[in-house]
Amino acid sequence: MQFNFRLKVSSSRALILALFLVHLISTKVLAQTPSVAATPPMGWNSWNHFADKIDDATVRTQADAMVSSGMRDAGYVYINIDDTWEAERDAQGVIHANKKFPDMKALADYVHGKGLKLGIYSSPGPKTCAGFEGSYGHEEQDAQSYATWGIDYLKYDLCSFDKIMEEAGSPEAAHKLMLDAYTKMHKALLKTGRPMVFSLCQYGADAVWRWGAMVGGNAWRTTGDISDNYERMTDIGFGQAGLAKFAEPGHWNDPDMLEVGNGKMNIEEYRTHMSLWALLAAPLLAGNDLSTMKPETIAMLTNREVVAIDQDRLGKQADRVRAEGSKEIWARPLADGSKAVGIFNRFDWPQTIEVDFLELGFKGSVKARDIWATKDLGTLPSKYVARVAGHGVVLLKVRQ
Ligand code: GLA
Repeated sequence: MQFNFRLKVSSSRALILALFLVHLISTKVLAQTPSVAATPPMGWNSWNHFADKIDDATVRTQADAMVSSGMRDAGYVYINIDDTWEAERDAQGVIHANKKFPDMKALADYVHGKGLKLGIYSSPGPKTCAGFEGSYGHEEQDAQSYATWGIDYLKYDLCSFDKIMEEAGSPEAAHKLMLDAYTKMHKALLKTGRPMVFSLCQYGADAVWRWGAMVGGNAWRTTGDISDNYERMTDIGFGQAGLAKFAEPGHWNDPDMLEVGNGKMNIEEYRTHMSLWALLAAPLLAGNDLSTMKPETIAMLTNREVVAIDQDRLGKQADRVRAEGSKEIWARPLADGSKAVGIFNRFDWPQTIEVDFLELGFKGSVKARDIWATKDLGTLPSKYVARVAGHGVVLLKVRQ
């Protein structure tokens, strides 16, 4: 009797130990997800330019233009359909695309045939932000549908899930509900066996950068929506100060999609946008109409040296080195031992801005290249004075 009791006690201990080990292994797996997004995802998303006016034909046109413009060869691969593709569920609860997307599998085949990947959008809530069908209660079914169609990327947008959180009773309970909802979809995606980038969108609530990787996120939006406007873009971009330590290969802070080429900012402002996003190791998801791009838009999006900063394999996001009024200096270390340095002028007319390379961790003179000017500056003393256009940037690559 006593022997049996001991046996039971020790076997239940073994069970607890085994469960603990399983827990450790699964959290490690959840926290790593290294098979996708080793560098920040690059591609295009339909929302910023097309919003609800997106359909199968437009997506194909964008995929064609991604290739013919040279963007694919510069590293842009994801063609991401945002909100408004969803129809109702059938009697079995299976989600279907609406009439704008007659055959999602055929569309994925088309996109894959161009050497690109296809992304889609949903919400952990019952409804998406535009009021379409969300994944609430159907996570595994939806993940399975995405895998069957050949989807490679999911943007998962909180939207109506906030109503469910409001009823949780306390901020702690609401927080837990949100983490559980993201974890649930992450597990559902893993269960399909198809690698998919998992992109969290909940606008930076509850300091998502602190737990986004734990719920399986490869990227997490850190802010509300961007718009094609210098004030909004810089509010977001310069507002990323302090978040660098939360980014690493497989897990990126996402200050929202690009507006480059949408027409409401000037070339200096778009350069600031592109430079800042590259320094921030942000996902580079173009948000313009790729089929009608001006040459300067193509040149900006495909600038190899700027893209290389964003995609640097070290995966270290830039942080602010100094801000003095409207003058800001940001820097990030790169895998080859050099640093990318952004010298930003937030004022709307030109200013001279002095950079002290000692402050950036260099010792004495440095070698520098001005990336947008495509000009080697040779050896510079430990200080450099840049003339920076209004709302503009000088982007340097600096080495000892
Ligand atoms: C939210 C997101 C946007 C976009 C829309 C779609 O606002 O933040 O990026 O996905 O929903 O409805």
